[in-house]
Amino acid sequence: MLRARAAPAMRKKPRPQAGGVPGREEVRFQGVRLYLVERKMGRSRRSFLTQLARSKGFMVEDVLSDAVTHVVSEDCQASSLWTWLRGRDVKNLPAMHVLGISWFTDSMKEGKPVAVETRHLIEVCVSDTSPALPDGTSSTPLLTVSQYACKRRTTTVNNNKILTDALEVLAESYEFKEIPGRCLAFRRASSVLKSLPWAVRCLRDTEGLPCLGEHSKAVMEEILQSGHSFEVEKTLSDEKYQTLKLFTSVFGVGPKTAEKWYRGGLRSFSDVLAAPGIHLNRMQQSGFLHYGDISRAVSKAEARALGNLIDEAVRAVTPDAVLALTGGFRRYRGKEFGHDVDFIVTTREPGKEEKLLTGIIERLKQQVSTLFGLLLYCEYNASTFDMVKLPSHQFEAMDHFAKCFLIVRLEGGRVEGGLHGAEGDGRGWRAVRVDLVSPPMDRYAFALLGWTGSRQFERDLRRFARAERRMLLDNHTLYDKTKKEFLAATTEKDIFAHLGLEYIEPWQRNA
Ligand code: UTP
Ligand code: MN
Repeated sequence: MLRARAAPAMRKKPRPQAGGVPGREEVRFQGVRLYLVERKMGRSRRSFLTQLARSKGFMVEDVLSDAVTHVVSEDCQASSLWTWLRGRDVKNLPAMHVLGISWFTDSMKEGKPVAVETRHLIEVCVSDTSPALPDGTSSTPLLTVSQYACKRRTTTVNNNKILTDALEVLAESYEFKEIPGRCLAFRRASSVLKSLPWAVRCLRDTEGLPCLGEHSKAVMEEILQSGHSFEVEKTLSDEKYQTLKLFTSVFGVGPKTAEKWYRGGLRSFSDVLAAPGIHLNRMQQSGFLHYGDISRAVSKAEARALGNLIDEAVRAVTPDAVLALTGGFRRYRGKEFGHDVDFIVTTREPGKEEKLLTGIIERLKQQVSTLFGLLLYCEYNASTFDMVKLPSHQFEAMDHFAKCFLIVRLEGGRVEGGLHGAEGDGRGWRAVRVDLVSPPMDRYAFALLGWTGSRQFERDLRRFARAERRMLLDNHTLYDKTKKEFLAATTEKDIFAHLGLEYIEPWQRNA
């Protein structure tokens, strides 16, 4: 409070600009806002480093607020730093990168924010968060971790990747074996570990954490002690697991088809393509044809180029349309890659969205780039959305909005900095998977929330709504079973508010 009052006095002397407005310097990195901790650093060094960073196009905040993404400190005593940070009134702290000065100096050297690595992080251990009570027992950690992913803030920084990778192998293998309960248990355990702002070093660190069952803990313990898990390694080298993983990596091939092919004795793509009795549908044919391209990660620059391409088509059809990026590319902040690009598109005028997608598809089909069509594959599903049939008590994997699944030909010339990882292949273009979904405007917030993901975040939003609020949530609506009414929402924030949940930013939904 005192700090805020002191602010006007500071105005007299021209100081480096406050509040992340970097003087006349151009802001080059929109998603990154630094805060330099003065403790241990000292005022003059802090001011010097602030100016240095601003001169290089970084936004530096004078005050620690929820807008900050990267906290930089020279305090090497992690516990005292964290105690100080927790004492500030910031909700977003779990989502911030709390970094040593090495990240800052690396970034200044490179002239851009470098990717956050474990070595940069100032870690916090659970014991720091659970002060001993007078009777010698430990209180519940101040940092209580919810069993619901929608109450946790999970960024793309994963401090426990070795553990989560292992748990996800097991989750996937139970998915292939069609044992959904076990699959989900491993997914939940992995998701909790992903949300931790610190690395688990021994099983004791995980005391009080939810969703860690005996099986998950046994796997974790083995890895923490010996660096690997027997069960995970056995799974990874299992022929059936490997084959199903390979087959399901093809666009259009789900676990059922993969299982059928495996039972038929097929083990490789060439087996599948040579087998006489196999009929590939159109989606699978395209999946094989463009396999190399669409199994390669899509870069941010490529996603942006696709956004421009889709935007042109949308504007040509309906000037008042609303187009937004959703899926992984809406969630990633600081991370560069995704597996496809998802868009949501609608019109302000109700009813007009009905013809929108078919119009966009027609437009894209007419457009040719260097003699080739832009659309390498297109499957359009018309809307089956009907408010009268809602609320649905059984969650369905697919929503009822009009949507299309595309493979788009993207020319390298449209991509700033060129295509990702295509050096030397000389083609000058790549295929990219794109999904478009088109809900009516009054369903926009629900569709955006549902399509932003992650899958685990969505699952837990629905589970939380049902178990804690007696409400039914899906991509179309939120229904209050107690009041027997649908709850309206025009933004995602409205939906979080109806659910009595703190708003979680898209980049904190990487559960
Ligand atoms: P994606 O499969 O595209 O995943 O679905 P992602 O989170 O963007 O990650 P990558 O980077 O592409 O791998 C995006 C979200 O859209 C939802 C999914 O459940 C997921 O949360 N979705 C997808 C639907 O709700 N309905 C659909 O028909 C398809
Ligand atoms: Mn996606």
